[in-house]
Amino acid sequence: MPFIQSRTMMVELPGVSADTFEEVDAAELDYQRLKVRIHEKLVDSLDLSLLAHVSEQELSGEVKTLAAELVAEEVPKTNMALRERLEAEMLDEVFGLGPLEPLMRDDSICDILVNSPTEVFVERRGRLEPSGVLFADERHLMRIIQRIVSRVGRRIDEVSPMVDARLPDGSRVNAVIRPLALNGPTLSIRRFGKHPLQIEDLVAKHSIEQEIVEFLAAAIDARVSFLISGGTGAGKTTMLNALAKFIPNDERLVTIEDSAELQLQHRHVIRLETRAPNNEGTGAVSQRELVRNALRMRPDRIIVGEVRGSEAIDMLQAMNTGHEGSLTTIHANDSRDALARLEMMVAMSGFELPIPVVRQYIASGISLVVHLSRLKGGVRRVMQVSEIVGFAEGGFHLEDVFGFEQTGINEQGIAQGEFYFTGHRPLCLNRLRACGLRLSDSLFDKRRIPVST
Ligand SMILES: Nc1ncnc2c1ncn2[C@@H]1O[C@H](COP(=O)(O)OP(=O)(O)OP(=O)(O)O)[C@@H](O)[C@H]1O
Ligand SMILES: [Mg+2]
Repeated sequence: MPFIQSRTMMVELPGVSADTFEEVDAAELDYQRLKVRIHEKLVDSLDLSLLAHVSEQELSGEVKTLAAELVAEEVPKTNMALRERLEAEMLDEVFGLGPLEPLMRDDSICDILVNSPTEVFVERRGRLEPSGVLFADERHLMRIIQRIVSRVGRRIDEVSPMVDARLPDGSRVNAVIRPLALNGPTLSIRRFGKHPLQIEDLVAKHSIEQEIVEFLAAAIDARVSFLISGGTGAGKTTMLNALAKFIPNDERLVTIEDSAELQLQHRHVIRLETRAPNNEGTGAVSQRELVRNALRMRPDRIIVGEVRGSEAIDMLQAMNTGHEGSLTTIHANDSRDALARLEMMVAMSGFELPIPVVRQYIASGISLVVHLSRLKGGVRRVMQVSEIVGFAEGGFHLEDVFGFEQTGINEQGIAQGEFYFTGHRPLCLNRLRACGLRLSDSLFDKRRIPVST
């Protein structure tokens, strides 16, 4: 078998129609298939009854020895480099995420996206790129998916072919398999760096301007509630996490998330996470139930990771009744859309409130919308900071305080443009002043700030 030689070939994947041939590194594929064969033998020869009685360390020692023996049987002595790689990676096969482990160890990767056994992409510094990683075949990928979901007590099969899970390091995982995923198992892993981006990093990356940070920091301190909106992967959670640092350290915070991502550094943080129904379809706990429960936990602020549904009404209630300064993110195309979606979520909550009442409720709870986008080249920018200043026909009257205008794309394919202050002096400045927070008079002067990247 040609092991090290590099060549590509067209491969037909098992279970995939013949017209979806893919060009892959054939030597790497041979290698993965050999590894899977050895892994199967290893599992067959492991004394499974041992598992319950030995420590993890002993087990890993046992696996190492066994792997070395089996590799020696399969691979001639002359090929030491290959032997070493197989032995090292056998542990990843038995205990970890198989071929994905090297990607998991790479801190510069934030997303790992497996489209098929031979198509594994990663996102690095905002850009999607092929990773070069391969699985031997669909069964190999399925085994790794099964390992991930069974670790968190979930199941993935034809009956429930779609699962969310979390890895021990906090990374968020979503897996979808046949029949919902037409081309076979897919896996998406959102990793959380050990060091989440801080507000200083976001300023350095020109995702936001220092002067608007000063305003938002004062708004948070003065308990002005706001929404952070944006599309998938626009950086909403990262921005929420970074801005939360401006919440005074002595406040008691309750965070509510579908899958816990926020990493707040405050002294009093209670983290709550929803629960999916178990295999019998019972035991689910929704964000709405958690928000209601949070109100009984004497919170100073409630932070809902992402508002998606009927919990919107309870969150607004909280914001209107002594828990001002609560923050959340929402999936939307712009500030106006964010408020329209929130309105819809309230309408879905079962309260038959007339629309003007809902709007009034939203406007008295929320003052600002910070909208983010992910632009060409992977850069994230704050596109709008809008203030709700009243009502207009058919919706809210919004005034932009700050924004970003894209003017072009540079040679590296990265979006270029300018931040600008519109000249609107936010109405909520009164509240800031009342709290003793004074911002420079010229902060909101109309001007443009070119961004060079
Ligand atoms: N300003 C930024 N510059 C560069 N990378 C960023 C920035 N903000 C976030 N990221 C990266 O982008 C990825 C997505 O970020 P984040 O989870 O905050 O987005 P999101 O909008 O909350 O996504 P989702 O829609 O999945 O909830 C993360 O890996 C994060 O590290
Ligand atoms: Mg998010």
